Amino acid sequence: MLSVRELYTEYPDKKGNVVKAAQDVGFEIPEGKLFTLLGPSGCGKTTTLRSIAGLERPKTGIISVNNTVVFSSSSNVFVAPNQRNFGMVFQSYAIWPHMSVFENAAFPLRVSRKRFTKQQIEDKVNRVLSVVALENFAEREATKLSGGQQQRLALARALVMEPKLLLLDEPLSNLDAKLREKMRFELKRLQRELNITTIYVTHDQQEALALSHQIALMQNGRIVQLGTPRDIYEKPASRFVADFVGTTSFLQATVKSRDTRSNEWVIDSEIGTIRMAGNEGLQPGDKITVSIRPENVRLLETADNSVPSDRLLEGTVSTKLFLGEFIDFQIDLGGTLLLARAHPSLRTPIGDRIFVDIDPEHCTLIHN
Ligand SMILES: Nc1ncnc2c1ncn2[C@@H]1O[C@H](COP(=O)(O)OP(=O)(O)OP(=O)(O)O)[C@@H](O)[C@H]1O
Ligand SMILES: [Mg+2]
Repeated sequence: MLSVRELYTEYPDKKGNVVKAAQDVGFEIPEGKLFTLLGPSGCGKTTTLRSIAGLERPKTGIISVNNTVVFSSSSNVFVAPNQRNFGMVFQSYAIWPHMSVFENAAFPLRVSRKRFTKQQIEDKVNRVLSVVALENFAEREATKLSGGQQQRLALARALVMEPKLLLLDEPLSNLDAKLREKMRFELKRLQRELNITTIYVTHDQQEALALSHQIALMQNGRIVQLGTPRDIYEKPASRFVADFVGTTSFLQATVKSRDTRSNEWVIDSEIGTIRMAGNEGLQPGDKITVSIRPENVRLLETADNSVPSDRLLEGTVSTKLFLGEFIDFQIDLGGTLLLARAHPSLRTPIGDRIFVDIDPEHCTLIHN
């Protein structure tokens, strides 16, 4: 549906140097899918989105929608932003303060080149307002809405022209934590219901994991990994990805041997001997980095028979954070700290001995 290829967008800075904001960015989004650009501040997410919208003119690249080229540097095509028929919601969504909810949503129709009759406007606006559950607020002044309602209004305004593509730049960033979570569900439901192809920009990894069909993780203007939320989380391509998405412990280690019986690598690490499943072409002696997610570390107060004894490591509880639905433990294993996420019923005090079991299936090799 949307295809972006070899996109480079640069800005001049004050000293006359170039800021390489988007570098060789490329991806395809199938019809009806939600695609997320994720990454830290300054990595080029907004630049990429604005380039697609036509609000920036990329240096080179090709952008096409449903096989129609809207930008091509080599054939000198540049379709103006208002001709692209994309809906947009920006981080600082501007609600027109002195207009009613209805008039805010009707605004794009009123200023459009296409002429709409009064009846058409009424029908279209009522439809989008009911989609975002604001039909009972149509006459209210827009500023007299809550933050979440204003957010939904901004979305209604973006949807009213029935855009082919919806571009959302951190649309939930102005909301408090609770409302963000609720709006996440609503956005997901809306996007799936309307089946509208969407690009979503965020630096919030949880939001990206929760909403997306596909995620492109960006670093310094480039896409460093592209995949489903599960792929990105479970098979991070680099240390940067593993660190940015979720929490993890990195261990420096050396490959010791291959256990052909269990098909696991036996590994000497900072915290002791651990095992890693998988068939990566390693050799004994290889120096590697292993990533271990806290939810894949099991804590036991006593060494029972449920785990082979050579898989258990002994440590002490260094710190713990009570977070309601779980507790994050830091376990001291010979001077190295390992993160573990446990059920809140585990009450081992700080300083006490504890056993650690790491699932070999969830020990991830990191390519640096
Ligand atoms: N108009 C501009 N002129 C010069 N440099 C710019 C301009 N807009 C962005 N940049 C630079 O381009 C790079 C990418 O910026 P961009 O706004 O795309 O990042 P972002 O990923 O959206 O970050 P954030 O999460 O903070 O919104 C940054 O180094 C930024 O300083
Ligand atoms: Mg941005």
